[in-house]
Amino acid sequence: MTSPLRGNWSYPTAIRFGEGRVGELAEACREAGIGRPLVVTDPGVAQLPMAAAAIETLRRGGLEPSLYADVKPNPTESNIAAGLDALRAGRHDGVVALGGGSALDAGKAIAFMGGQTRPMWDFEDIGDNWRRANAAGILPVVAVPTTAGTGSETGRAAVILNEATRTKVVVFHPGMMPRVVIADPALTLGLPANLTAWTGMDAFAHCLEAYFALGFHPYADGIALEGLRLVKRCLPAAHADGRDLAARAGMLAAAQMGSTAFQKGLGAIHSLSHPIGAAYDTHHGLTNAVVMPYVLVFNRAAIADKAAHIARVLDLARPGFDGLLDFVLDLRGRLGIAETIAALGVPARDLDRLAERAAIDPTAGGNPVPAGVPEMRRMLQAAFDGRI
Ligand SMILES: [Fe+2]
Repeated sequence: MTSPLRGNWSYPTAIRFGEGRVGELAEACREAGIGRPLVVTDPGVAQLPMAAAAIETLRRGGLEPSLYADVKPNPTESNIAAGLDALRAGRHDGVVALGGGSALDAGKAIAFMGGQTRPMWDFEDIGDNWRRANAAGILPVVAVPTTAGTGSETGRAAVILNEATRTKVVVFHPGMMPRVVIADPALTLGLPANLTAWTGMDAFAHCLEAYFALGFHPYADGIALEGLRLVKRCLPAAHADGRDLAARAGMLAAAQMGSTAFQKGLGAIHSLSHPIGAAYDTHHGLTNAVVMPYVLVFNRAAIADKAAHIARVLDLARPGFDGLLDFVLDLRGRLGIAETIAALGVPARDLDRLAERAAIDPTAGGNPVPAGVPEMRRMLQAAFDGRI
């Protein structure tokens, strides 16, 4: 008899966690084997003192950095192409990815593509596409997150917008995991309250969907549960007072734990959120938070026992699935998050098309209840009408 307890497990990377540790950036680059880093960031972060400080730290450490700062909020194929030009022109041997999820994803994609001859879309996260890559050519990345949400710094994929088809494509390779992460909660202190809420809800969605995803992965489950507990404790505090460093630190850890856990899988929250974000440029974490309760209700029969366990771990007022649903609705309300996708600007006439795209999103397979086009359409309608 064979045992059903099988899985492929991979765990994250070297993480230097703590206030002020961005001062170790040059040392981290050397540890990753980088002498000439291309610093990849977005125009907003590039204007902040932390970007100049990072470049200065690298120079003082004897490294030769240059800056590529044109990453868009949803990074595009042309962003990656321009970054690759900068990488090659400067003969860089690695990337420092500094910023939120977009800059980190772009930095990882640029370092990955630095060693490839095939076009980027050949590495879309479908089946074993990643095996087409030249793994030896992937350049090392040092990731320095400035938001607490996507956890891209401890992830092996990048989400890139295909401008021709207006779809978000997940590009995956195990070698895209950053070699070293500097997790300095002080870098997240300046994040405004709305972005704190939205990115934090992305971390929450990762832990939640990973925990509910099918498959045997007790490491991921344990990490997801503790991530949920950290979000419950720290997200309202970080949202209420952005200077609360302990809450910021808790959220930064939770974000990394979310992306570590979701190698087990995600689900329909992300399947619905990806096409909405691609079509209307809505914030990813915000979109997740809006659709979250409708997906939970759709999955109810399959997740009731796990939801009851979450309610116990989070010490929620009401037990069982209803306790978790109440908690999510209350958290969403306290963070000032919209209740419907209509409020995000999604028009009713697009729901059919969005359902088609959601059903083929790579995350759809992880949903605990099989969800094809009609099921996605039903969830979209509920999220449009605000019908829990
Ligand atoms: Fe996400």
